[in-house]
Amino acid sequence: MNVELKEEFESRMVEMIFPNQTNHYGTLFGGHALELMDKSAFITASRYARKAMVTACSEKVDFKAPVKTGHLVELIGRIIKQGKTSVTVAVDMFAENLLSGQRQLCAQGRFVLVAVDEGNNPIELDKNS
Ligand SMILES: CC(C)(COP(=O)(O)OP(=O)(O)OC[C@H]1O[C@@H](n2cnc3c(N)ncnc32)[C@H](O)[C@@H]1OP(=O)(O)O)[C@@H](O)C(=O)NCCC(=O)NCCS
Repeated sequence: MNVELKEEFESRMVEMIFPNQTNHYGTLFGGHALELMDKSAFITASRYARKAMVTACSEKVDFKAPVKTGHLVELIGRIIKQGKTSVTVAVDMFAENLLSGQRQLCAQGRFVLVAVDEGNNPIELDKNS
């Protein structure tokens, strides 16, 4: 069951990429990229639903370009679907050169997050969250 979204909803976060997040090529390690994307999805879903949310799945994630150490990443999470207890969040991750401001889309993915109660049981989202 899909519910009409109450509004277009997106949330942004930025993070500096320091050497402790990069691999031996000097670019962002894929596992850290996934962590940042999941965090963005979590924040987006939680701010939209105002309920405790857990990640049920990450759908296909495409890594399109590497992120160099010393660059900034901006993650934009967008609610693209609302179900009875879940939302689907599309996350785009951009790399930004701090000095030039040049930006590039580096990764895209989708995450499903579910609203849960204290016992971790799925609970209904408000129709108009
Ligand atoms: C997510 C979780 C609460 C779902 O519980 P469940 O009893 O399997 O849920 P249900 O089968 O009743 O489904 C509830 C909703 O989740 C969705 N869902 C559950 N598993 C899903 C999956 N693997 N992929 C996509 N959607 C999923 C269902 O489609 C349903 O959506 P809807 O109500 O909007 O139609 C449970 O699997 C869980 O606690 N998982 C661990 C979460 C976690 O720790 N995440 C952090 C990552 S380590």
